[in-house]
Amino acid sequence: MSRLESKVAFITGAARGQGRSHAVRLAAEGADIVGIDICRQLDSVNYAMSTPDDLAETVRQVESRGGRMLGIEADVRDLDGMHAAVARGLREFGRLDIVLANAGVMTQSLPPHEKSRDAWRDGIDVLLTGVWHTLQATYQPLIDGARGGSIVITSSSQGLRPFFSDLSGGFDSYAAAKAGVIGLMRSYAATLAEWNIRVNSIHPTGVNTPMVVNEFFGEYMEKSNPKTAARVVNALPVELVEPIDVSEAVLYLVCESGRYVTGTCLPVDAGLVFAG
Ligand SMILES: NC(=O)c1ccc[n+]([C@@H]2O[C@H](COP(=O)([O-])OP(=O)(O)OC[C@H]3O[C@@H](n4cnc5c(N)ncnc54)[C@H](O)[C@@H]3O)[C@@H](O)[C@H]2O)c1
Repeated sequence: MSRLESKVAFITGAARGQGRSHAVRLAAEGADIVGIDICRQLDSVNYAMSTPDDLAETVRQVESRGGRMLGIEADVRDLDGMHAAVARGLREFGRLDIVLANAGVMTQSLPPHEKSRDAWRDGIDVLLTGVWHTLQATYQPLIDGARGGSIVITSSSQGLRPFFSDLSGGFDSYAAAKAGVIGLMRSYAATLAEWNIRVNSIHPTGVNTPMVVNEFFGEYMEKSNPKTAARVVNALPVELVEPIDVSEAVLYLVCESGRYVTGTCLPVDAGLVFAG
């Protein structure tokens, strides 16, 4: 018996990377997927963001394994658009059980930091306000479903232990937002518990996705703060974990296995936070 048979999952940032991996993995357990993604570029992001073709590829991968997925181009910064996407998902699949607030960017502002304010604003808008929008657009349908539910917010190891600043709006917005979502996670966990809706966050170390595997990231780290960047090393002998490693942790939280787990931060960090 598949572990998520008849469940519906709403996933942000589903076009590629971890969001795609979560979509494919949850679908393999029987869940129907509503996956949204912005599918276009932000000026304050130096690496290539996703495209409509990427989102179509996630849909293809889910369907090729026998799953069902509705892919929607939507921006987590747009609350009305998020409500509309959730409503489309409800019309298509009739219910909502799981929410993965996964969409993210790493905005960048290299010295002399002309882009610093934009990098701060876009980072906070996507990573903090976008998560709040995702919670706002989904909590009522979860309550109305009266079957409980599970929300997982993707934070970062940076959310538990900010390692360094680039002294600009780039990493600063990332560290602030990834810590900020822990507050949202705990307050929603406490409030939604009476409806048996669980809320947790996951905190990956570096993951092998285009957010960090791109021609700019290594150089950016090095130029931003070389001494501190050199100290960010996992305890276990692995440089980057794979998206599937995070998906398996998500699966643990959203399935019956996690039924009494709420309000927690789950690191998938190869020991980076406590020993790195
Ligand atoms: N890759 C890492 O090393 C790493 C480590 C820890 C945490 N994270 C977090 O994991 C999550 C997933 O990132 P990833 O590694 O898969 O990177 P990724 O860049 O491959 O995927 C992120 C996806 O989010 C989408 N997105 C960005 N802004 C959006 C918006 N405004 N609205 C809707 N979609 C939007 C992008 O288009 C992209 O498809 C992010 O929250 C990221 O901060 C990543």
